[in-house]
Amino acid sequence: GITRHYKFDIQMANVTRLCQTKSIVTVNGQFPGPKIVAREGDRVIVRVVNHVQYNVTLHWHGIRQLRTGWADGPAYVTQCPIQTGHSYVYNFSIVGQRGTLFWHAHISWLRSTLYGPIIILPKLGVPYPFVKPYKNVPVIFGEWWKADTEAVISQALQTGGGPNVSDAYTINGLPGPLYNCSAKDTFKLKVKPGRAYLLRLINAALNDELFFSIANHSLTVVDVDAVYVKPFETNTVLISPGQTTNVLLRTKPNYPGAMFFMSARPFVTGAGTFDNSTVAGILEYHDPESLSSASFNRKLPLFKPAFPPLNDTSFFANYTGKLRSLATARFPANVPRSVDRRFFFTVGLGASPCPENQTCQGPNGTKFSASINNVSFAMPSTALLQAHFFGRSRNVYAPDFPVAPLMPFNYTGNPPNNTLVTNGTKLVVLPFNTSVELVMQDTSIVGAESHPLHLHGFNFFVVGQGFGNFNPAKDQAKFNLVDPVERNTVGVPAGGWVAIRFLADNPGVWFMHCHLEVHTSWGLKMAWLVLDGSLPNQKLPPPPSDLPKC
Ligand code: C2O
Repeated sequence: GITRHYKFDIQMANVTRLCQTKSIVTVNGQFPGPKIVAREGDRVIVRVVNHVQYNVTLHWHGIRQLRTGWADGPAYVTQCPIQTGHSYVYNFSIVGQRGTLFWHAHISWLRSTLYGPIIILPKLGVPYPFVKPYKNVPVIFGEWWKADTEAVISQALQTGGGPNVSDAYTINGLPGPLYNCSAKDTFKLKVKPGRAYLLRLINAALNDELFFSIANHSLTVVDVDAVYVKPFETNTVLISPGQTTNVLLRTKPNYPGAMFFMSARPFVTGAGTFDNSTVAGILEYHDPESLSSASFNRKLPLFKPAFPPLNDTSFFANYTGKLRSLATARFPANVPRSVDRRFFFTVGLGASPCPENQTCQGPNGTKFSASINNVSFAMPSTALLQAHFFGRSRNVYAPDFPVAPLMPFNYTGNPPNNTLVTNGTKLVVLPFNTSVELVMQDTSIVGAESHPLHLHGFNFFVVGQGFGNFNPAKDQAKFNLVDPVERNTVGVPAGGWVAIRFLADNPGVWFMHCHLEVHTSWGLKMAWLVLDGSLPNQKLPPPPSDLPKC
């Protein structure tokens, strides 16, 4: 591989959407941010200079970061933030991954505007296991707020209530023509007939699981989270925040000048049909008759996609059931066959009692909180990885994350709040190369969306999932150890469970959290500490000298 150098200047820029101009945090003045393009096996070096008043970190979401935990990026987990006027160089290699990932800010809610694609091409001379795409097209979903998102989340945390929702969904930063005052901010993809386009879908939205469809076209899913899957056809893609999906779009032979909406709308919070909470882009077929693209803006798109109904759990089950690893000799599924440690985590969104001297705006005067095994994770004021590495963990974290015995969860009806939740900075410690099985059971008492749980530093295999309570006796026997999908973010279904396996072969401190940003803010997060192995190539090297200080 080769080394690819990038310079990311974090700077403010004025951006106008929905007829309002707003100063936002950007990389190099671009929104969405610049794309990183590399091949499997390359090294990527990104020099980040912070010119804004906010503390910033960047995370390379889904990059394995094998023994490069110092470059992972979550604030107060692997590093202290880069302060105003300071810089930090992220230096990592891309090992054994090819497909689409993305980078985003990993502190507070700055990722609402700080994000961009990571495109990982196969090694030179290694073909795709599907038709060679004529073109690669990143399609990033996001959310646009008229308000300042830092104010939105800090107000929500102060009042204990839910934050204001965004004003629009976006494709590549553009809300599209269904929103007021937005027609000129529409993503347009002009295509030729009879070609294969690789659409690299990225859900960078803060808080919404999305459906994506293109009118009159089916899509072939070929890869998720930078791992190839067995190709399958679908009219609609379901994609959670933190997930990426590569789809092949085969254009029709004979549609000169025709236009189609390509759209995304939320799985849960929006209306059930194509409506004005839908972001629409336009797919337009090249028209050999027209001499210029001037005709483009005069025509109206004629075709709208049909979406599954709102909150369609059968679609969810069916779609996720089709996701299978390619599992070939060249791209094997290395599922851990045996298990050293089994864990059962409850993943819950709920409410906790309002502190005495406060009035709270959550359900029945409580405040929203979220937890894993009833621990709402408290961020430390210094980075966990440094504290561990330099033997200064006392008063920073405790290695006593409560590990529930493997047992079915009993729903206890619909309590107004969960008084069992405590706050703490607690980690699970794993010896190097521990083979882990983790069952996550949703116990949310509010909300109907699945929780997209994201694990840093690893890919995992999704060996099972279901609705209702996990039943070890019955469900474990049905785990798929042959071709389960391998990924870095998985939906824990609302009122259901998911089981994953991974090998803890990467020393460091690895964050795991719900990628619905508001749930992370409420505490739906924890961290794993994976210890060094005994061989030199099983140890985390010391940090780079420019690692920021708190
Ligand atoms: Cu994309 Cu910890 O996040």
